[in-house]
Amino acid sequence: MRVLSGIQPTGRPHWGNYFGAIRQYIDLQSEDAAYYFIANLHALTTIRDREALSQATYDTALDILALGLDPNQAVLFKQSDVPEVSELCWLLMSDAPMGLMERCVSYKDKVAKGLPANLGLFTYPVLQAADNLAYDSEVVPVGQDQVQHIEVCRDLAQRFNSHFGEVFVLPKPHVLDNSAKVPGTDGEKMSKSYGNAIEIFEAPKKMKKQVMRIATDSRPMEDAKDPDTDHLYQLFSLFAEESARESMAETYRQGGFGYGEVKKALAEAAEAYFAEAHERRAELEAKPERVNEILGDGAAVARKKAGEVLKRAQQACGLA
Ligand code: ADP
Ligand code: TRP
Repeated sequence: MRVLSGIQPTGRPHWGNYFGAIRQYIDLQSEDAAYYFIANLHALTTIRDREALSQATYDTALDILALGLDPNQAVLFKQSDVPEVSELCWLLMSDAPMGLMERCVSYKDKVAKGLPANLGLFTYPVLQAADNLAYDSEVVPVGQDQVQHIEVCRDLAQRFNSHFGEVFVLPKPHVLDNSAKVPGTDGEKMSKSYGNAIEIFEAPKKMKKQVMRIATDSRPMEDAKDPDTDHLYQLFSLFAEESARESMAETYRQGGFGYGEVKKALAEAAEAYFAEAHERRAELEAKPERVNEILGDGAAVARKKAGEVLKRAQQACGLA
């Protein structure tokens, strides 16, 4: 199975990003081909700061390598290092119906949020379609909000194939299992835009402070509580081994404990869970040339594949 996904360079990853997305990318890296790229061309539709864009792109690579993406198994690269994709984007745009594009909700959402309307934002799904098609991807792991873009991609690929022959492989979305929406410090869905996120690479001391500030209810200590409806327990269970999870659930059902103890256990479990990733990140941070080498090697593999696909498309439609 050929897997591909793009990751937006959108700042420091939090627990929700890990359990809802990154962990699953890493689980899929042992497939026949797993291609992951940092979507810096897509980010350019909204970022207007040279330093910020290049730093965020680099940091995102560092983060996912530290979290376990293995460059010997998966291909990791920067989107902009594969110019073939932008050429492919034009081929797809040339027959992308306006009506289809106007139905895309991501453009409307972004403009409604106050982002300036630009053609890059409007054609965002076509570039994403080119990303998918350039590597003959069969499966694209994405969050629910991106499924419409994969459908647009299938639509555009089908149109091209129906005019010019079977050039493109039609990818399928693989919706990431983030049904277990990770709660934030206020109990609502963790999100960097709600100010309730705990970052994976936060210093342990600061992370502990954030955990101790997680909102809890004011029921008396002695009351029995239902672990399954408690966001603190939900967080704890993401990090704890099964036996610790079970015994914590039992403590909840019996009552007679303080939330402070649970928070302490949560902070310890989270620190232990990400300890190796913290170490790996520090090691990589000291070796920027290694990170650049990984991205460079990834780009070479990706360009070779995208070059083949682009040539196929150019020949089919009369450009080559
Ligand atoms: P944010 O809401 O912080 O801006 P993004 O929208 O950039 O996060 O999310 C990137 C990926 O992480 C998406 O696939 C999304 O589904 C996943 N994700 C983000 N927050 C959570 C969460 N609280 N629980 C589960 N998955 C999440
Ligand atoms: N649009 C995706 C997002 O906002 C990122 C992305 C760009 C992507 N190209 C892709 C995802 C191709 C999957 C496949 O998260």
